Amino acid sequence: MNAIGSPISRVDGPAKVTGAATYAADFAIANLAHAALVQASVPAGRIAAIDTRAAEAAPGVLAVMTHENTRRLPWHPRDPRPGVDPKSGERLHPLEDDLVRYDGQPVAMVVATSEVEARAAAELVRVSYAPTAARTRFDPAYGHEPSAATAKAGRPGDTARGDPEDAFTRSEVTVDVPFVQPREQHVAMEPHATIAAWDDEGGLTLYDKSQWVDNVRTEIGLAFGIDEKRIRVISPFVGGAFGSGLRTWPHVAMAALAAERVGRPVRLALTRRALFTNTGYRPRTESRIRLGADRDGTLSSIVHEAIGQTSTYEEYAETTLTPTRQLYACENVATHYRLVDMNVNTPSPMRGPGAATGQLFLETAMDELAQALGMDPLDLRLKNLAERDPDSGKPWSSKALRACYEQAAERFGWADRPRDDAARTVGHERIGSGMASAFYPAHRSKARASVTLYANGGAMVQAATSDMGPGTYTALSQVAADALGLPLEQVRVEIGDTALPQAPAHGGSITMATLGNAVANACSRLREDLGVENGGDLVAALGGRDSHRAEGSSSPGKEAQDYESAAFGAIFAEVRVDPELGTVRVARLVGGYDVGRVVNPKLARSQCIGGMVQGIGMALTEEALFDERLGRVMNANLAEYLAPVCADVGALEAFFVESDDRIFNPLGVKGLAEIALCGVAAAIVNAVHDATGLRLHRVPVTPERIV
Ligand code: MOS
Repeated sequence: MNAIGSPISRVDGPAKVTGAATYAADFAIANLAHAALVQASVPAGRIAAIDTRAAEAAPGVLAVMTHENTRRLPWHPRDPRPGVDPKSGERLHPLEDDLVRYDGQPVAMVVATSEVEARAAAELVRVSYAPTAARTRFDPAYGHEPSAATAKAGRPGDTARGDPEDAFTRSEVTVDVPFVQPREQHVAMEPHATIAAWDDEGGLTLYDKSQWVDNVRTEIGLAFGIDEKRIRVISPFVGGAFGSGLRTWPHVAMAALAAERVGRPVRLALTRRALFTNTGYRPRTESRIRLGADRDGTLSSIVHEAIGQTSTYEEYAETTLTPTRQLYACENVATHYRLVDMNVNTPSPMRGPGAATGQLFLETAMDELAQALGMDPLDLRLKNLAERDPDSGKPWSSKALRACYEQAAERFGWADRPRDDAARTVGHERIGSGMASAFYPAHRSKARASVTLYANGGAMVQAATSDMGPGTYTALSQVAADALGLPLEQVRVEIGDTALPQAPAHGGSITMATLGNAVANACSRLREDLGVENGGDLVAALGGRDSHRAEGSSSPGKEAQDYESAAFGAIFAEVRVDPELGTVRVARLVGGYDVGRVVNPKLARSQCIGGMVQGIGMALTEEALFDERLGRVMNANLAEYLAPVCADVGALEAFFVESDDRIFNPLGVKGLAEIALCGVAAAIVNAVHDATGLRLHRVPVTPERIV
């Protein structure tokens, strides 16, 4: 009996497509009131006056909350800060002072008996501002080194191995490539929403869109100065997040404040427009990379500078330059990372945080180097394949990147790609082919899980983790089914609730390497408790009892001391460009991935083709357009922020090379989420160059940039 490795459809699929799945805003809570935000319309300044009279007199309004009438929360700092939070600065304390830090910041909140009334009354709040000078231009001249705390958290200002500057000067072939990745937004289907309900004893229940319910509980406990044991956070379904649900955003505290004020449960559902400035985004990042190589293609020097944006109140930093240090064998590598503070809300992780951006820079530059060398871009990658981690010198716990390159190239038909003019031209269009590597470090964390066996032969797996879409429900069911020797249909999974055993962030591609092992461990404990060997009858061992529950856990071992672990991939793109219209169609993408053991090939493929679609967006359509004069995102809606739609997507093929990493963790998985985005945009941009000869050095590659 092997559930692991089977292409099982999502166990939560029927609930999702029939509307039975309850997302944060869907919970039917008695006596529910609704909150709506009033957002700042200047990027910096002070609130000079707020006139709330018209709003207060509007139908259904229960309260209008501003900094003038909202209590100050204790906001006890959390030390150490969770991994997803900026290491320096202070989180936004909404409605606590008159300072405006960015356009879109909440400056007032209306609570009413219905959502329509709350939103209508919010329009009636009159705010006047005393604006001050705002930093709304991304100016590299303001770039500063990350703080010591940020550097310590793996985002150092400067790193070097060897003598890259000297080696660059001596290199036989060099390229020097600038590049701009603009601000991108998560634009998940489900908007963020929180329902807050206080009970008579001062306990708080939060229904929140979250990738990390335990973190929300801790943060809100600290913010309100109450014991976190009195808080329960529930988030059983998440309609996509891509990282936007990792932090505890200000609106969660605001929902709890509103419920406290009106003495009723309150729902605060962010509008699509508010999502752009009240949750995070992928920060604009500008790059300059210099590559040097010998004539035979051996990399002799890499010098990579990147500058990312952050807010004025928190220092958010990314691991943008990690791939530069680890992807290729090169003795002389320097990275320089800087940050620019701006009057914007704080960025946050977004799928492949840092890495996807960094690989766009690195992999487009590698394409330029291949051209300068007159070398096949694939041969250049193979020539510089890192057999050990070039940064630490440690061996990889597993690495099948060569197989990814070779098998994906074969499936794509890379060797036979059209190269002469006639073969490249089809009607109005030019065919272009490009490729890139993909890389994402693999991590695991600590988690607990429980499994309960019932006399009817059913089993229940419980853990606080979320499932934002990759298939946690399904994959954990598969792990438990195999570990208990039960048919998959007899295993149920309950997640997304702080009442369940503690789990880490559902992010950073760590869920299966972490929770998967905790569930397997809980199942082993259950067997031990009942004294049943593999293949034995667990139900009979219950001996007439209704059920038996066992808890298990998993935490990183010593593997990271001796090994580096990462997921790898190779991606090939074929585009069709109409040089007169400037349109780019992605005709085909082929990705081969080394992600360790694949628990569910169907969901794993979904994860990868989802990443490909997001990569098409990164390459061709997505940009949060920021008006420097206003300090405002101008396209904060789904009509003008262009996420790719079906018509933008050609044939997608994702497959997995032989891989099973038992050094990294007992289950052998490496993690599959971020890797699916890494390299995709670079492969497409490289293919656009192949079709047109253009090096655009900026995404998205929109028609006006081509013509
Ligand atoms: Mo992912 S950015 O870790 O949700």
